[in-house]
Amino acid sequence: MSNFDLDAFISSHKADEAQKIIHSALKEFDNIAISFSGAEDVVLIDMAVKAKKDVQVFSLDTGRLHPETYRYIEQVRKHYNINIDIMSPDAEKLEAFTKEKGLFSFYEDGHKECCGVRKVAPLRKKLATLDAWITGQRKDQSHGTRNQLDFAELDGAFGTEESPLYKFNPLANWSSEDVWNYIKVFEVPFNELHQKGFTSIGCEPCTRPVLPNQHEREGRWWWEESEHKECGLHVGNLIPTKQA
Ligand code: ADX
Ligand code: SF4
Repeated sequence: MSNFDLDAFISSHKADEAQKIIHSALKEFDNIAISFSGAEDVVLIDMAVKAKKDVQVFSLDTGRLHPETYRYIEQVRKHYNINIDIMSPDAEKLEAFTKEKGLFSFYEDGHKECCGVRKVAPLRKKLATLDAWITGQRKDQSHGTRNQLDFAELDGAFGTEESPLYKFNPLANWSSEDVWNYIKVFEVPFNELHQKGFTSIGCEPCTRPVLPNQHEREGRWWWEESEHKECGLHVGNLIPTKQA
């Protein structure tokens, strides 16, 4: 059982910058990792390596990412001289799924099942080895699911009572503009897809560029109408007790 005091951490970091939050989280936990999606949340890596050179980073390789994203993950690995744990889906489960449903079933019956096999199960496997994880989620990414986001929380979706898992979202209060200012000021590498009109980037068949003034996540699973677009990585955002 961890001795981490979440309430004390929250109250002592309420007014702190994202850098301070991530650095404190890295100090609190040895066994903590950054969940890197190969989009703009490289900001987390940039902040983390300034405090801890051998920071743990993992990326969920769904097998369906854009070629640009694969190249970018490699670029980040070399740029920061870090190891990135590339998590793959379970081969047997994936083969059974694609045999039954083909490669594009998400356009017909929704993304939940495919995300379950390609993202959520590998994430669950990775998180079972950790005490805490760090994500690049921001409140303003989704009014429907992320506006209650805390910069530090107990992960009730992937942790258990016997083995609690903590989740840090140091950019919770950042805007997209803050992210891009940081990228510019610190000359942080970014996914070349951002130069082609992509804002929020996921898998290739489930992401498309957005038009000016469209919300940044409108290009994700665009054929689905729901206000509650979450693939299951951050399923805690959908738990009703989080609502105001
Ligand atoms: S998603 O749930 O809709 O796919 P989103 O793309 O907004 O998530 O990303 C939010 C955060 O989830 C990212 O900042 C990152 O920490 C984590 N994340 C998303 N996709 C991945 C991935 N493929 N691998 C690792 N982490 C990811
Ligand atoms: Fe499958 Fe699309 Fe989910 Fe990627 S985002 S895992 S391709 S449904």
